[in-house]
Amino acid sequence: MTMLTVFFSTAIVTTIAVLASLSSQKGSGIFAPPKIAGSRDVFPSAKVVNLTGASGPESVAFDPSGEGPYVGVSDGRVLKWRGESLGWSDFAYTSANRQKCVRPFAPELEHVCGRPLGLRFDEKTGDLYIADAYFGLMIVGPAGGLAKPLVTEAEGQPFRFTNDLDIDEHEDVIYFTDTSTRFQRRQFLAAVLNVDKTGRLIKYDRSSKKVTVLVQGIAFANGVALSKDRSFVLVAETTTCKILRLWLSGPKAGTQDVFTELPGFPDNIRRNSNGEFWVALHSKKGLFAKLSLSQAWFRDLLLRFPISGPRLHSLFTGGRPHATAMKLSESGEVLEVLEDREGKRLRFISEVEEKDGKLWIGSVLMPFLGVYDL
Ligand SMILES: *[C@@H]1O[C@H](CO)[C@@H](O)[C@H](O)[C@H]1NC(C)=O
Repeated sequence: MTMLTVFFSTAIVTTIAVLASLSSQKGSGIFAPPKIAGSRDVFPSAKVVNLTGASGPESVAFDPSGEGPYVGVSDGRVLKWRGESLGWSDFAYTSANRQKCVRPFAPELEHVCGRPLGLRFDEKTGDLYIADAYFGLMIVGPAGGLAKPLVTEAEGQPFRFTNDLDIDEHEDVIYFTDTSTRFQRRQFLAAVLNVDKTGRLIKYDRSSKKVTVLVQGIAFANGVALSKDRSFVLVAETTTCKILRLWLSGPKAGTQDVFTELPGFPDNIRRNSNGEFWVALHSKKGLFAKLSLSQAWFRDLLLRFPISGPRLHSLFTGGRPHATAMKLSESGEVLEVLEDREGKRLRFISEVEEKDGKLWIGSVLMPFLGVYDL
């Protein structure tokens, strides 16, 4: 590029960034999070369960006797909710080296303290499986305590950002994702902006201990969910705003297709008892995100731009925090969209777990869980 081109391109990016921040501050305008037809703005009436001294309950799981939920938080612990009167208690942790892990949110220490993301209980044994962003696929017994690593690499490639899992108890296998072989969790926005495509869906056979890479080349491999009949497994491809489906049995076994395309960036996927899927969107895809992801020149300039992480995150998510959850049928049609459009109560949600007429809602950034009565 000539000096002149550099000058003009920089001027364009600056102008767009300024326009984007101005327009989104007012909460409207072309850079604001887009509207979704038919969505219901009901989450402002959700209740919250505060976390004390902790933040970022990314995943939510109930144990086989229905107790909990359990959540993994930013300082590496897994906490258990024991109801209003008893509150939260420590259940498990993924690092033995916890002396420095005292602040609720300290991304620079995540590789020391661990960062539990996806949580799933084995219904028969009561063991909790944990996808820890830094320590791989882990397991801890029903009494909790220090989790131990089960799998830390596949095909000679160490995991860099283990993210979510689901368990097929009939086949005795675990499906899980490693988001990227290049970027760590605390660099999640860089992984998206660089359109990193090194994400993998991996299968772990519990009896043979064999590890198999099922899908590679995923652009930010995120949430994982099996279908009710276990004929397919879904994987959220966050950067492309898609849910991918890998067929496990039947005539299409071994092939993959796009289950659905979404108006935003999917995080975890959780099946309800009817076999439908709740997908939490980290944020909707506004014009700034569209430009960044579709125009390589814009993205390249943005990545070289002296702009803080939080500012970039704010621009990328439309300037206004919000919460969007989508319920999908077993064949991928959108059944329901529930939102907090202005982030009055919920924002940047990561998982929606339906249980007994309530939605339990996690967030990778917020210091509370949301609870919404259906
Ligand atoms: C949760 O924390 C917020 C902020 O500190 C506070 O305003 C709110 O009352 C708390 N809610 C509950 C249910 O404890």
